[in-house]
Amino acid sequence: MKQMDVSSPAVFSIFHSATMEAERINRLTTGFMIAAGFIFLLVVFLLFYVCVRFRAKRSKNPASFRRNRKAEAAIIGLPLLLVGFFFYRTLQTMHATEPSLRGQQPDIVITGHQWWWEARYPGTGVTTANEIHLPAGQDVLLQLESADVIHDWWVPAFGPKMDMVPGIANHLRIHIKKPGVYEGTCSEFCGAQHAWMRIRVIAQDPVSYGKWLDAMMRPSSPPTDSIAITGEALFLSATCADCHTIRGTSAKGSAGPDLTHVASRETLLAGKIGNTEANLEKWLSHPQEIKPGAYMPDFLFPRDSLKALIVYLHTLL
Ligand code: CUA
Repeated sequence: MKQMDVSSPAVFSIFHSATMEAERINRLTTGFMIAAGFIFLLVVFLLFYVCVRFRAKRSKNPASFRRNRKAEAAIIGLPLLLVGFFFYRTLQTMHATEPSLRGQQPDIVITGHQWWWEARYPGTGVTTANEIHLPAGQDVLLQLESADVIHDWWVPAFGPKMDMVPGIANHLRIHIKKPGVYEGTCSEFCGAQHAWMRIRVIAQDPVSYGKWLDAMMRPSSPPTDSIAITGEALFLSATCADCHTIRGTSAKGSAGPDLTHVASRETLLAGKIGNTEANLEKWLSHPQEIKPGAYMPDFLFPRDSLKALIVYLHTLL
């Protein structure tokens, strides 16, 4: 029972404006690039024209252009107008895309960790990791924080990046236009596994999003299968529970990702591996080989225990 209801390929591109904000910023950038391109061509043309028209062979006195008030007014006035126009458009775009925070509570609080993303949905008790579900077709206020060093949230199709600085809450407002899967990455070097801090946003229509949130709000169901029961006991008695939370059990650690519904995720380790039993086995056997530097210790579980743990984790839908 995977929670994903979006099967289209993930979008990872600055040229695809998936939010209203990205669309406005891209429109401004395109206008700016067209104006800059036009000015570049004009300058190159004039340069060649002057070189040819006023070459020494044709004219003994190339600097004969003096006190032409009209030309001077145009040379100063036109660039001033253009700069003024783009200044005004930039202010307009900033005003339209930057969130006003007066009295607003964030819809989702995203915290950067070395090296994964935590997503908390205030008022629901839901905390998840790396695969961040957001509603499409409405304004969403993201609050961006860091638990350790500076990270940087960037989903190219959503427009702006935003630094995540320890002790500071930054905000981004986004209005995702259509449901889909949008990928991003950490954009501030944050240590050994910076490259493996992939973001996966699953934007859903409000109804599917509501259903997903309802499913996530449920605590985990106790396992019924005997191997999974062994796995759960192992999880709670080994040090797993000191770092991870599984709602519905006594595991309440907060150093690592919340695993209450870990089996409903498509990927593990911030997008590094697919969420399959084989990958989970590799990860739990040799974390430091799979993601060197990650704060997941090598446990050296006996084979049977490892199997039970994997079976248990995959019951957490
Ligand atoms: Cu987090 Cu780079």
